[in-house]
Amino acid sequence: MSKPKILVTRNIFPEWIDYLSENSELDLWEDELPPPREILLDKVKGIDGILCLLTDKIDSELMDIAGTQLKVISQIAVGFDNIDIKEATKRKIPVGNTPDVLTSTTADATWSLLMSVARRISESERFVHSGNWKTWHPLHFLGQDIYNSTLGIIGMGRIGYEVAKRAIGFDCKIIYYDVNRRKDLEEKLPIEYVDLNTLLIESDIVSLHTVLNDDTYHLIGEKELNLMKENSILINVSRGPVVDSTALYEALINKNIWAAALDVTDPEPIPHDDPLLKLDNCLIVPHIASATFKTRYEMSKISAQNLINGVNKKPLLTCVNPQVNY
Ligand code: DGY
Repeated sequence: MSKPKILVTRNIFPEWIDYLSENSELDLWEDELPPPREILLDKVKGIDGILCLLTDKIDSELMDIAGTQLKVISQIAVGFDNIDIKEATKRKIPVGNTPDVLTSTTADATWSLLMSVARRISESERFVHSGNWKTWHPLHFLGQDIYNSTLGIIGMGRIGYEVAKRAIGFDCKIIYYDVNRRKDLEEKLPIEYVDLNTLLIESDIVSLHTVLNDDTYHLIGEKELNLMKENSILINVSRGPVVDSTALYEALINKNIWAAALDVTDPEPIPHDDPLLKLDNCLIVPHIASATFKTRYEMSKISAQNLINGVNKKPLLTCVNPQVNY
């Protein structure tokens, strides 16, 4: 019997590439950069399943070109805003993702960004490396305290909750906003539900953990940034377009807010000449919040298993559109 045909759009952990090649006819795109759109469209013709990344646009055009035998889309990420889920569901194609395994790692990364930006770690490290450290000075590199601050979490899902848990050790007051009030979580942690404006007005730190959809596109724009405190910090580990980056630049340069730390940008990668890169009070890292050995291994494993389950019409372990899971 012939093996199912699969396309994997980037290298993952070798053990899971081996697993895929044992169980399928594998086409692996090995470049570091994503396959250009024309190549991707060419490669999907006749495949049974695809393992894709957030950098690959999986839309109706691609699904049409792939053909009606396409049985599964397996994303190696928890977020799936690059995939047209409605279209996949209409065609009864289950879409897998990799939740849970990256929750704590991403919460840790949120705190890494928060502590780095609040205490100006990367800025002062650049200062030392460039040979500018001449003396100890009482007024050099003053930052913001995190302990006893008010942390405002936008999006109280799995990651938001883990970020909140870590804030208890810092004696923070924790407020949150979400489209759904999470009374179940309020029973577990000292978190208080507020509306979005109250959160922006009262928080010293605003941390974004929402999904990206039509409602959250530019959720944080000029109006919202103007509500924030002058000494406040914005952290974004969700998706770049949740923040209007032009408005963020204006807010940072005009000192409407004190600093920002971004794991995600709009677009990604951020262009070399983007004005945000010139600001000392904007820390930017290249979408690495889930990047630990253990977590990326687990993400490789789940996405590979979802793919092989799907091509064999077996239930995906984690499915974004469970109504069409096998
Ligand atoms: C995700 O999983 O959606 C992250 O952005 C990458 O780990």
